[in-house]
Amino acid sequence: MIEWPMLFGALALILAASSAAASPNPALLFDAHGCRACHKIGAPGGNAGPDLTLVGHRRPRAWLEKWLASPRAYKHDTEMPEQGLNASDRVALAEFLSAQKGQAWGKSRPWEAGGDGRTIYIRAGCVACHGPAGRGGHPNPGAHGDVIPALAPLMGTYKKDELIWKLRRGVVPETHGGPPADVDMPRWDGVFDEAELGALADYLLTLAKTDPKDDF
Ligand code: HEC
Ligand code: HEC
Repeated sequence: MIEWPMLFGALALILAASSAAASPNPALLFDAHGCRACHKIGAPGGNAGPDLTLVGHRRPRAWLEKWLASPRAYKHDTEMPEQGLNASDRVALAEFLSAQKGQAWGKSRPWEAGGDGRTIYIRAGCVACHGPAGRGGHPNPGAHGDVIPALAPLMGTYKKDELIWKLRRGVVPETHGGPPADVDMPRWDGVFDEAELGALADYLLTLAKTDPKDDF
């Protein structure tokens, strides 16, 4: 028996995908769907969610599509509302976001030359994975514990040099024996200079002692 509803569903998907190819400008979609009310790309935008100016460095495209399909299915207590995007808008937005590698800042990044570590932590999007003030809790299916662990309690075990080395190289999380974890810690060596890495490490080392109410 032919399943007509499935056939129509498939046709609708094909039509949606072909209209994505023709869709004019995904940057306009970002504004049209109201993403900018909560997210920055470059200077303008809200701060209820992470700054997305560098999101293409930290998030693979497949992850972005999965997240946009249903933030709540990925992280049940997330404050990002379900977006109800159709397939073509979702694909176009994921492609647009994965191309965001910091260029929208132009020559001046949101922190001073040399950097203040807390601002870098928030605006470069460490906060998107490690949470405000390193409190952790973001899901990471496949990783040990299936979450990205809190940074703050680990900082007492680090020296500044070791931290900088980790930031440069990235981290592949331990698994519980199965397939690789969903999310790796990206390498940051091409993104930050020596002074910025030092400022980040200094900030991380303060986390063990503080509990600020940080935002994005
Ligand atoms: C009402 C505010 C709000 C709106 C509107 C919103 N988001 Fe979000 N978004 C958030 C919050 C809050 C998070 C952080 C979620 C978390 O970690 O639980 C987030 C996370 C994200 C992330 C992953 C974060 C990262 O930096 O790695 C992406 C990508 C994203 N949103 C894209 C979008 C897009 C695209 C739209 C529009 C279609 C949108 N968001 C609309 C609040 C919002
Ligand atoms: C895309 C998500 C993601 C982003 C963005 C990210 N990290 Fe990570 N980070 C991870 C994961 C995953 C691990 C490994 C955790 C584990 O062991 O499971 C990790 C590990 C670390 C560690 C080592 C912790 C340990 O286990 O000893 C440090 C330090 C760290 N990150 C700092 C940062 C800083 C600073 C930034 C921003 C420049 C950042 N991370 C951005 C995902 C991310």
